[in-house]
Amino acid sequence: MRKLKVLIIDDENLICWSFKKRLDKNLYEVLTADSGENGLEIFEAQLPDIIFLDNKLPGMQGLEVLQKIKTINPETYVVFMTAYGTIESAVKAMKLGAFDFINKPFTFEEIEKVLQQIREKMELENELQVLRRQHAQKETFDHIVGTSPAIREVVQMAKKIAKSEASTILLLGESGTGKDLLAKVIHNESSRGNRPFVTINCASLPETLLESELFGYEKGAFTDARQQKKGLFEIADGGTVYLDEIGEINFALQVKLLGVIENRTVRRLGGTTDINVDVRIIAATNRDLEEAIAQKTFREDLYYRLKVFQLTLPPLRERKEDIPELIQHFIQSFSNHFRKQVKGITKEAEELLVNYDWPGNIRELRNVIERAVILESDEYIHTESLPVEIRSKPTQKSVRVTSGDFYDIEIPDEGISLAELEKVLLEKALEKTNYNQSKAARLLGITRDSFRSKKKRYKL
Ligand SMILES: Nc1ncnc2c1ncn2[C@@H]1O[C@H](COP(=O)(O)OP(=O)(O)OP(=O)(O)O)[C@@H](O)[C@H]1O
Ligand SMILES: [Mg+2]
Repeated sequence: MRKLKVLIIDDENLICWSFKKRLDKNLYEVLTADSGENGLEIFEAQLPDIIFLDNKLPGMQGLEVLQKIKTINPETYVVFMTAYGTIESAVKAMKLGAFDFINKPFTFEEIEKVLQQIREKMELENELQVLRRQHAQKETFDHIVGTSPAIREVVQMAKKIAKSEASTILLLGESGTGKDLLAKVIHNESSRGNRPFVTINCASLPETLLESELFGYEKGAFTDARQQKKGLFEIADGGTVYLDEIGEINFALQVKLLGVIENRTVRRLGGTTDINVDVRIIAATNRDLEEAIAQKTFREDLYYRLKVFQLTLPPLRERKEDIPELIQHFIQSFSNHFRKQVKGITKEAEELLVNYDWPGNIRELRNVIERAVILESDEYIHTESLPVEIRSKPTQKSVRVTSGDFYDIEIPDEGISLAELEKVLLEKALEKTNYNQSKAARLLGITRDSFRSKKKRYKL
C-alpha cells in the first residue's frame, strides 16, 4: 500500500509531536494543525487519507470541523479524540461519519490498532473497486444498444447460439457494425465465460507469424524457436478463439483451420503429437465470402463449416430508428469519460445524424459523438459540433431539373458523377414510361439500341 497521509488536528503540541515521533515514517506522512481552521486549510490543500481530530479546540469545535471535512470528502477516515470521556460528543461524531473515536489519554497501541483497521478497510475498498470495475467491463447482451427489429432479431439468435454447444460461429457485417462486440458478448454469456477469450486479427500478421501464433511451436521448429511456445488454440482451451478478418487467411492456413474444426486437435509447428483442444471458434469478416469462393481465394469446405451458425449484423442505415438511442448512449459514456456537462442533443443535430448514411456504421457514429462531446460547450450537442460532411451533405443528392426554356441544374458542392446521373435519368425515364424502353429512349432523345446498351451497362 502507498504511504498514507495522516493529519493531526490538536492544539496540544505534545500530542502532535508524539504522533510525528511514533508513527512509522515508511507507512505514514504526518501533517499537523493546531486549530480547526488551520486543519481545514491543510485538509483542502493536502487531502489526507486519515485525520485524528480533537474535540476541544480553540476556535471552531471538533464536531463542526468533522462536518465540514465530511462534506468536502466523505471518504476521509476521521478518528475523533475526546478528552474528558464525554460519550455524548463521541456519539455525535460517529453519527456524522467518524470512523472511530478514542478517549484521551490514549496509548499508541490503541492508535496503531485503529490505523490497522483503517488500512484493512482501505484494502477491502480497493479490492471491491477492482471487482466492480471488472464486473462493469464484462460486456453482456445488455451492452448491445438498439431496439430495432433488425438488431433484436440478431440478438435473439445470438442468445440461443451463445448458450448452445455450437462450436463454430460466423459473424458477418460491414465494418463497424459491432462484430467484435457481439463476439465478446457471446463468449461472456456462454458457459465458457470464465475461460479465456483470445482474439487475433488475421489481417494484421504476416502469414508465417499468424500460423505460429495460432498453433504454437516446438523448440527448434525453426531458427528463432528457442523455446517451446503454446499456440492460441491451446491457450484458449475451454474458452473462445475469435478470428477477426477470417477472409484474409491464405489457403494453407485455411486447410489447417478446417483440421482444427473437424478434429478438435492442434499440432504445434515442428511437433509430432496432436493436442486436444476444447475451443469455440468465432470467425468474423466484412468481406463477401461467397465472392471470395468464386474468386478461389476462400475454400468452400471451410466456409460451409463456419457458416452453420451465421449471424449478420445489419448496417446502421438499415436500422435508423436505433440512431437516437445510440447517440444518447455515446453521449453519456463520453460525457462521463471527459467530465463534460453534455447530456443531450438538439433536435436539429439529431435529425442530421439520423439522415446521414453512416458508411462506417456504429464506429463512425461513436467517433462523431466523441468529437462532438469534446467540442461542445453547451449541455446539448448543436449542429456546429458535427463534422462538416454530416452538416452539409444531403443524403439524397438532389439535382433538380426543371424543364422550360433552360435547365436549372444545381451541382452540389462535392460534385456529382455524370455516370451516376445518367443512371438515374434512365431509371426515371423507365418509371415514367411504365418500363417501355422505346418510349423511355425517346424521352431522353436517344435511340432504343443506345438506351439498351446503357441500361445493360448500369445493370438496370
Ligand atoms: N449495438 C451496439 N451498441 C453499442 N455500441 C456498439 C454497438 N455495436 C457496435 N458498437 C460499438 O461500435 C464500435 C465498433 O464496433 P466493432 O468494433 O464491434 O465493429 P466491427 O464490426 O468489428 O468492425 P470491423 O469490421 O471494422 O472490425 C465499438 O466501439 C463498439 O463497442
Ligand atoms: Mg472488428
